[in-house]
Amino acid sequence: NGKLLGTLAIVHSAEEHAEILEAVVAIAQVAVAVLLIALVLVWFAAGRILQPLRQLAITAQSISGTDLTQRIPVRGEGELAKLAAIFNNMMDRLESAFISQRNFVNDAGHELRTPITIIRGYLELMASNPDDSEENLAIVMDELRRMSGFVDDLILLAQADNPNFLQLEIVEAAAITQEIFDRAQALASRNWQIEAAVKGKIVVDRQRIIQALMHLAHNATQHTETTDTIIIGSKICQGNIHFWVQDSGEGIDIDNQQRIFDRFARVPNRLRCSEGAGLGLSIVKAITEAHKGQVNLYSQVGVGSTFAIVLPLETV
Ligand SMILES: Nc1ncnc2c1ncn2[C@@H]1O[C@H](COP(=O)(O)OP(=O)(O)O)[C@@H](O)[C@H]1O
Ligand SMILES: [Mg+2]
Repeated sequence: NGKLLGTLAIVHSAEEHAEILEAVVAIAQVAVAVLLIALVLVWFAAGRILQPLRQLAITAQSISGTDLTQRIPVRGEGELAKLAAIFNNMMDRLESAFISQRNFVNDAGHELRTPITIIRGYLELMASNPDDSEENLAIVMDELRRMSGFVDDLILLAQADNPNFLQLEIVEAAAITQEIFDRAQALASRNWQIEAAVKGKIVVDRQRIIQALMHLAHNATQHTETTDTIIIGSKICQGNIHFWVQDSGEGIDIDNQQRIFDRFARVPNRLRCSEGAGLGLSIVKAITEAHKGQVNLYSQVGVGSTFAIVLPLETV
């Protein structure tokens, strides 16, 4: 109520004031110096850490559609070294995919050149000598048939990786085996037999599986004599369905057993030359792999060959 109770006095001398000011200035100077040193250190450290990233950017920029040989040097074991190794691995895969695509186009071009040359030759012959034209026309038509079959094969191989390549349906496994057996007999006169035709339903692309098996049957006729036996069979074993074509023909030596599944691969120095371009087995493999299965081959020279298409029952 307006009465004065006491007085609080804050006193500091000019000397104390100067001391405090001095301390504050010293602290500020040290702080600025530390900050500067830290900045410089961070600058250098960031430069070192980001160097591989910069290298990655430079390498990525220098990669063009034609030159895929560039790689990033991998140093140390840190996360960035891992990133560089992953990038290099990816480049390895890309490079080998590009090389195989280039070889594929190259081989396909060579393969198409032969029928084109033949057709041109016969057409020129027909122009200069119209009397023989019927016979020559038959040859031209035959070459064109082969050529269009070859182009169909190329298109099929190009589409095989497509997710909607397969038209799956539920089919009776025994019906497929029987259909192959019936159709294959028209291919050539052999001792055709059917074995262990399995009972049960499977989910497959019926047309594609028949196409693959017919190709195996066709190959079997090309490497056997009329007296040889060709067996078409199917069975269910350990969660897989097996379809096989077994022949008692010339067989395939061990060195070529893997290679013949490659595109354009044929066994050299055969007495009998197949009329195909060497794409058949790669198509069989592509169709089988689209069904998440695999092709097995058991073969012995002089004894015969068995090609088996093995498909997992639960995933197809
Ligand atoms: N049943 C078989 N017996 C012996 N050799 C075979 C058999 N099937 C395939 N081959 C060999 O594998 C090669 C590749 O077969 P494929 O890919 O069907 O090509 P193509 O039939 O066009 O030659 C054939 O050229 C042949 O040498
Ligand atoms: Mg073939």
